[in-house]
Amino acid sequence: MTAPSLSRNLWGRRFDSPLILAGGTAGFGRELALLDCWDRVAALVSKSVTLKPREGNPPPRIQETEYGLLNSIGLANPGVNSVVQQEINGSVNIPCPLIVSVAGEEEEEFHRVVEVLEGSPMPWAYEINVSCPNVASGGLPFGSEPSAVERISRAVARVSSRPFAVKLTPNAGDMVETALAAQEGGASGLTVCNTFLGMKMDWRTGSTLIPRKVAGYSSPALLPLVVARVWQVSRTVSIPVLASGGVARGEDVLELLAAGAEMVQVGIRLMRRPRAASELFREAEELLQ
Ligand SMILES: Cc1cc2nc3c(=O)[nH]c(=O)nc-3n(C[C@H](O)[C@H](O)[C@H](O)COP(=O)(O)O)c2cc1C
Repeated sequence: MTAPSLSRNLWGRRFDSPLILAGGTAGFGRELALLDCWDRVAALVSKSVTLKPREGNPPPRIQETEYGLLNSIGLANPGVNSVVQQEINGSVNIPCPLIVSVAGEEEEEFHRVVEVLEGSPMPWAYEINVSCPNVASGGLPFGSEPSAVERISRAVARVSSRPFAVKLTPNAGDMVETALAAQEGGASGLTVCNTFLGMKMDWRTGSTLIPRKVAGYSSPALLPLVVARVWQVSRTVSIPVLASGGVARGEDVLELLAAGAEMVQVGIRLMRRPRAASELFREAEELLQ
């Protein structure tokens, strides 16, 4: 096997770095622009946007654990119209392509959000977050049902002039089947994957800090789970896989590329180290040399 190269191609565009900032961990880039942290950032995935404004879950929404981070944001966002006006069109000019993350409570919402985004010249691509709960099927994630993922992908493909990845959930269903369903529906790529369900409980009182109790867990310790899924999915589909989860070292980036990822996203690492992309790239480059 040949060692992976750090130059990548995604959807007809060439990148000198594989590193993408993961959805919800860099907002729309405003804070990173203040710090000027764009070195080796290939693209930024925005926080997930819904059709209507959403308050999100009650606070606290974030809890650190010994080895990772729990989040229970609940898709808080001001709704797609306001996002387009304030964050996408009227805000900072980020020096890399913007991938807008799209979420919904019902199947029709995803393509309706994309229809609004099509009116803005700014997005380069979309990431369809099917890890959110499907209200009509009792709160299971859309991503647990391959048929729903196929229908959502088909509807998005119909209205979108831009490439889109479907971001899969590890929490229900068979990820390979869901990946195939997304591809069948016309997805241009797959993001593997969203956070794993987790919970932290005080054993003395039986209570949890996060009111919703169960939250999304991110941790470098989950890297092998993500490597396995990237490998399983990328050898089955013919569209590019964007890895997401567990990246903390340059070594991890190389491992995910070797497992079949075209690009690698970085999430919680960024919260401690806003220049994570630059640092990870340098580490990976040194290892390759
Ligand atoms: C605070 C926080 C907010 C997040 N918000 C979103 C989101 O809006 N949409 C989404 O698809 N994923 C969201 N995620 C998941 C990340 O994009 C990423 O998939 C996950 O954290 C795993 O990557 P990591 O181990 O590099 O953090 C969020 C994660 C965190 C920690």
